[in-house]
Amino acid sequence: MLEQEAGPPAAQTPDGRQPGVRRLTRRKPVEALVSEGGHGAGGELRRSLGLWQLTMISIGATLGTGIFVVLGEAVPDAGPAVVLSFVVAGLTALFSALSYAELAGTIPVAGSSYSYAYATLGELTAWVCGWCLLLEYGVSVAAVAVGWGQYIDELLHGVFGAGLPAALSAPPGDGGLFNVPALVVVLLAMAFLLGGAKESARANTVMVTVKILALLVFCAVAAAGIRAGNYRPFMPLGMAGVSAAGATLFFSYIGFDAASTAGEEAKNPQRDLPRAILLSLVLVTAVYCLVAAVAVGARPWQRFEGSEAALSGILRSVTGHDFWPALLAFGAVVAIASVVLTVLYGQTRILFAMSRDGLVPAVFAKVDPRSGTPRANTVIVAAFCGTLAAAVPLGRLADATSIGTLFAFALVNIAVIVLRRTRPGMRRAFRVPLSPLFPLVGLGLCLWMMFSLDTVTWAVFGVWMAVGAVVYFGYGMRRSRLNAAPRAATAPVSGEE
Ligand code: ALA
Repeated sequence: MLEQEAGPPAAQTPDGRQPGVRRLTRRKPVEALVSEGGHGAGGELRRSLGLWQLTMISIGATLGTGIFVVLGEAVPDAGPAVVLSFVVAGLTALFSALSYAELAGTIPVAGSSYSYAYATLGELTAWVCGWCLLLEYGVSVAAVAVGWGQYIDELLHGVFGAGLPAALSAPPGDGGLFNVPALVVVLLAMAFLLGGAKESARANTVMVTVKILALLVFCAVAAAGIRAGNYRPFMPLGMAGVSAAGATLFFSYIGFDAASTAGEEAKNPQRDLPRAILLSLVLVTAVYCLVAAVAVGARPWQRFEGSEAALSGILRSVTGHDFWPALLAFGAVVAIASVVLTVLYGQTRILFAMSRDGLVPAVFAKVDPRSGTPRANTVIVAAFCGTLAAAVPLGRLADATSIGTLFAFALVNIAVIVLRRTRPGMRRAFRVPLSPLFPLVGLGLCLWMMFSLDTVTWAVFGVWMAVGAVVYFGYGMRRSRLNAAPRAATAPVSGEE
């Protein structure tokens, strides 16, 4: 039997609308979500992505600034045991990744956790989730683009001995006028995305290959500098240090969920999405642990304090040449560009799903019939993120991306438990083992990480959510498509086992 997903007809007002509170908790049936899959106004998204490309999308969105920049900041907290910190952060991500895998295989649509929340926890929670995803994807793309600019500068220094003038590489308020490289990388990503999902996925696959090769080259070259003594003592700051560094390094795992935004462009989403999410997480964890082990073996952990581009510095001191650091900077430039590409892609697809539901303007769901992509959506999102990256000092807003992401992950863990109870008979291509224990562990870990973030970050997050509430109550709630078709939501279910 189907649970009450949009409220029973008897609860409607005479004009067919639902009273206030019911509107907030109305749910969109899984069948409606899935049957709308791919359809936008004016055309359909094209199903062109296989397992390999989906895995590359998740790796593309995940492997970037975390390993190239944040590793250096985490080593002073944990010492050589930073390798364990990567395992701890990876395990935290794994529990949520299992929940993503189950839901992505069951509800394979573009909205990712926003759509999972809509099917299980109701419209208001779905909106909150979508608004958090705007932080995880939209704001973080701008922050990552800024990081790209820094590596471009380093590459220019390495190759030409001079970088960009400060006025053209930072926004007002951060010592410049306009961050040109940050805008350039967002526009480049936009150009690929307008060409089509398949073309973007191809470009992303090349970039992911380059970044993994760059990190493997780092390991091969820096291995010559490994000294056994650098690993002793292994855990100089104890388990507390390991977990503090783990919380910092969680950032480097954000993005594994990106494949789940490709649910409507995957050739075989039920089978491939869960595999892509889990496979990318395993591969990324292996690369992180390997790079971290080599880095702390080749440089005493105390010397990471205050070092900016730690990996480049290690290559310079091991080889005595500038060629290898420049090569690594090139790898970082490519790595971060692929994060921008895939995260921008994810943001457009999430807005696509929200627009189809009426919660954001219809222009976001318009599909260009020729390329099979949401063109207007892509241009608007790129203009927004590009402007944010180039002209706005992001400061604490960028810090709030982790909290927004963790909140979305927490909701996905809850959604698994709810859907198992409300729709036990649904076909699930992948099932989280030991449910509800594992989703509860995933939820607990997300909450633990959220509460370990500082109060200023929470305050920024609070302001962000308050703005989201104004937009929802002022626009989304009134325009929701469930206003018009509450009865359709109680249609009979097919596909139960
Ligand atoms: N995980 C992404 C990165 O490390 C956000 O850049």
